[in-house]
Amino acid sequence: MKIKLCIVVGARPNFIKAAPIITAIKKYRKEYKELTFFLIHTGQHYDENMSDVFFKEMGIPKPDFQLSIGSGNHGKQTGEMIEKIEEILLKEKPDLLVSIGDTNSTLSGALAAAKLHIPIAHVEAGLRLFNKNIPEEVNRLLTDHLSALLFVPTKLGKDNLLKEGMKNNTVFQYGDIMYDATLQFDKVAEKKSKVLKTLGLKKDEFILVTVHRAENTAHIDQLKTILDSFVEVSANHKIVMPIHPRTKNLLKEHNLLDHYSAHIQVTDPLGYMDMLVMEKNARLIVTDSGGVQKEAFFQQTPCVTLFENTAWVELVDLGWNNIVPPKSTKFITKNIMDVLKKKKGKAGSPYGKGNAAELMVERIITFLTAKHKS
Ligand code: UD1
Ligand code: UDP
Repeated sequence: MKIKLCIVVGARPNFIKAAPIITAIKKYRKEYKELTFFLIHTGQHYDENMSDVFFKEMGIPKPDFQLSIGSGNHGKQTGEMIEKIEEILLKEKPDLLVSIGDTNSTLSGALAAAKLHIPIAHVEAGLRLFNKNIPEEVNRLLTDHLSALLFVPTKLGKDNLLKEGMKNNTVFQYGDIMYDATLQFDKVAEKKSKVLKTLGLKKDEFILVTVHRAENTAHIDQLKTILDSFVEVSANHKIVMPIHPRTKNLLKEHNLLDHYSAHIQVTDPLGYMDMLVMEKNARLIVTDSGGVQKEAFFQQTPCVTLFENTAWVELVDLGWNNIVPPKSTKFITKNIMDVLKKKKGKAGSPYGKGNAAELMVERIITFLTAKHKS
């Protein structure tokens, strides 16, 4: 039986999560030649260091379709993606669409497929922050409710979906796809990356920070609250910030990039290999990124998460992640200083064995084979 999969990506975390899935598909193709896939890149992220670099470093094939949608308000960006993805799905007729994570590209792929009755597999299903003002929460909720196969990274993800009425036999807990990615690339990163030398850094002598969430970058006052804390902490600790274009644009708009760069070592966004090495060698990570919170744990580096809550509660329970809602500069600084004094978290392995992608591909094949027979 021929199986043709469509994978939709568009933003930085989509690329990183797609890499292990593509590796697993390629592995299966060795025995199962009838398994094929094509890749759609929506163009949500387009700068070289937000997109191409991940394709090159992680061996992701060139997209079969580059939609070049670019930036825009949610409705416009999502709408244009749906329109173009639909055209491709009508022509290519895949048996299943793989939607990954929680970006606008994730939701667009799912919506386009659902209307054409193409089954969807959602990778990283079931995560909830219980706040529908968060754009990613809307994307996750809708994608989950449209999907035939729900690949949850954690037990909590499964519980959330069952509470929302999903059927038990559609939910599969195989582990976290980013853990697969870290295991796949960690050694290569250590060999290849020269980032510590290039940036003049030594192990445990810097704090790695990333800030890009809409909630922290929509208004300059909120961003200033956070960055002013980094300035305070920089009196005693070197701070390095690979800057997301959204954050950079806001600082430039308010003529504040030079001001903060005088205290914080600001770099362009890093490639994945450099990022893994930075995360491993940092004394502490301070972030609002969903993915970086987890990678901090994979690299056994303590983390402060600048957000109201987290979907990765296992890491809070194990003592690796510290949730610090960024409400005032003083509050953030105090918490960063406290975490620097704390002992590291406990051992644990809440994210599977690093073979989630292989199990997902196997499950997709089983699902499609059964569907074909019925
Ligand atoms: C998106 C995702 C978010 C994810 C993040 C990862 C949604 C709703 N949000 O947020 O979940 O955590 O990606 O990084 O899908 N820009 C550039 N060059 C680029 C890409 C973006 O300059 O290559 C700038 C543009 O000014 C753009 C802004 O960044 O307007 C925001 O980009 P967008 O993709 O809309 O949202 P992110 O904040 O990146
Ligand atoms: N990342 C990267 N370079 C950077 C910042 C992040 O390679 O300069 C990687 C990071 O290692 C993780 C992923 O991007 O794998 C997380 O994506 P991001 O923080 O953009 O989004 P989120 O996870 O919050 O959706």
